[in-house]
Amino acid sequence: MRVLVIGSGYVGLVAAVCFAEGGNQVLGVDVDGAKVAALSKGKSPIFEPGLEELLAKHLASKTLRFSTELMPAMGDVDVAFICVGTPQSEDGSADMKYVLAVAGEIGEGMALRSPDAPPLVVVDKSTVPVGTAARVHAEIARHTDRAFEVVSNPEFLREGSALGDFLEPDRVVVGCRTDHAEAIMKALYQPFLDRSGGKWFRMDPPSAELTKYAANAMLALRISFINEIANLAESVGADVDHVKTAIGADHRIGPAFLNPGPGFGGSCFPKDLQALLKVGREQGHPLMTLAATVEANRHQKQVLLRKVKAHFGVKGGTPAPLKGRRFALWGLAFKADTDDIRESMALELIDGLVNLGAEVVVHDFAAMEAVQARIGDRVRYAATPLEACEGADALLIATEWADYRKADLEAVGKALKARRIFDGRNLFRPEAMEAAGWTYHSLGRRAVQGP
Ligand SMILES: NC(=O)c1ccc[n+]([C@@H]2O[C@H](COP(=O)([O-])OP(=O)(O)OC[C@H]3O[C@@H](n4cnc5c(N)ncnc54)[C@H](O)[C@@H]3O)[C@@H](O)[C@H]2O)c1
Repeated sequence: MRVLVIGSGYVGLVAAVCFAEGGNQVLGVDVDGAKVAALSKGKSPIFEPGLEELLAKHLASKTLRFSTELMPAMGDVDVAFICVGTPQSEDGSADMKYVLAVAGEIGEGMALRSPDAPPLVVVDKSTVPVGTAARVHAEIARHTDRAFEVVSNPEFLREGSALGDFLEPDRVVVGCRTDHAEAIMKALYQPFLDRSGGKWFRMDPPSAELTKYAANAMLALRISFINEIANLAESVGADVDHVKTAIGADHRIGPAFLNPGPGFGGSCFPKDLQALLKVGREQGHPLMTLAATVEANRHQKQVLLRKVKAHFGVKGGTPAPLKGRRFALWGLAFKADTDDIRESMALELIDGLVNLGAEVVVHDFAAMEAVQARIGDRVRYAATPLEACEGADALLIATEWADYRKADLEAVGKALKARRIFDGRNLFRPEAMEAAGWTYHSLGRRAVQGP
C-alpha cells in the first residue's frame, strides 16, 4: 500500500516507520525542512528507543522517504494520515489550524488523482475534537469533487514505548463510514493486530474521536485519584504501596496507572483534558470529575516543593531557609524514556526552588538539551547523576528513569552534603532507606528521618 504520513513528530514519525515495517511504501512529510533533512539522513529528532534502527533499516530499503512536499505523492497514494499537532488554544480548545491547513493541501492535491481512482482514505490521527472528521471533509470538499473519505483513527502510543505500542497495539479504533475505508485500514493494521492479539473496533467517526479523549481523561483521573489517596495515606499513617496493590488486585479496577507521582505532564494529558472540558462546557455537560482531576494535578505538581519547604522550615513568604542551598535534581522529562519536557513538573520545581534563592544542579538521561534550550543557565547541568549530587543539600527525584533506581546510593550519600532524598517517584522503600541512615521523603509512605 502507498501511504502518506503528514507531520513527522512523535506520532507521525512513529507511524511512518511502523507502516514501512508493515511492508508498505511510505512518504513522511513535514513543513520543517531541518527535520526532514535530518530524518532523510537517519537522524531522529526525538528520543524513542529503537526508532533510529528502524528508520535506518527502511531508509536503506527505500520503503521510507521524507519530504517537505506532499503534492508529488498525491497522485497515487492509497491513504493519507494527518499527524500534525493540535496544541491548546488560549481558550483551552484544541487549535485546529494545522489540521485544517493540511486538509486544504490534500484538497488541492486531489486534482492530481485520476477521476476513476478509488476514493482516497484521509485519516485524522491527530487528537482532535468530536466533529473534526466532518470539518476536514468539508475543507477537502471545498477544493475537489474527486472521491475521498475521512476516517478517524486516534493514536494511543505512549512516548518511551511508542514502537511497541504501535507494532503490537492493544486495540485499533477506526471511525469510518464505508467498507472500502475499513478494508484499507485493516490491511495496514492487521499485521500488527496479528502479532499482539489486539482488538479491532470499527465505529462512526465521532465515537472514535471521543474515544481518544475519554481514554486520556480516564487515565489522568486514575493518576489524580491515586495521588490524592497517597497524600491522605501520609496523613493517616497508611502506606500507599499496600493500598494500590490491594485495590489493583480487584479485576474491576486493575493495577495499571495507580502509581503516585509528582503530577502528570507531557504533550497530551494537559491539553487534551482542557479541550474535553471546553467541549463539555459548550455542550452544556460540564465534566465535573475532569475539572477535579485537573485541579488535583495542579496541586500535585507542587508536592515535592511543599515537602522541601516543610523540611527546611520555609514559612509564608520567607525564602531565607533555601537561600544559598544547593539541590540535585534527577529527571527533567515529564516521564522516563522520553526527552519530552512539555508540562514537566521538573520545570515547575526548578522555578519554585530558584525563586526561593536555591541553586539547582540537574541531570536527565535524554532531556538536558531541551531544558537548556528552554531555561539556559537558570540551573547547572551535570554530566552524570552522581556529579549532580556533589555538595548538594538534598537529592530530588522527578523522573522514574530505571537507572536512577539502580544508582549506587552509598556513592550518592558520600557526594551529598547530607543523606537526604525527596523522591517524587517512590524509587526506594522507606525501610531500606531508614536502615541505611537516610532522611527520605516519598509519596504516600511514612517519611524517614536520618540519625
Ligand atoms: N506525542 C504523543 O505521545 C501523542 C500520542 C497520541 C496522540 N498524539 C496526538 O498526535 C498529534 C501530533 O502530536 P505529536 O506529539 O506528534 O506532535 P509534534 O509537535 O511532535 O509533531 C507535529 C509535526 O507536524 C508538523 N507540521 C505542522 N504543520 C504541518 C503541515 N502543514 N504539513 C506537514 N507537517 C506539519 C510539525 O512541523 C511537527 O513536526 C497531536 O494531536 C497529539 O495530541 C500525540
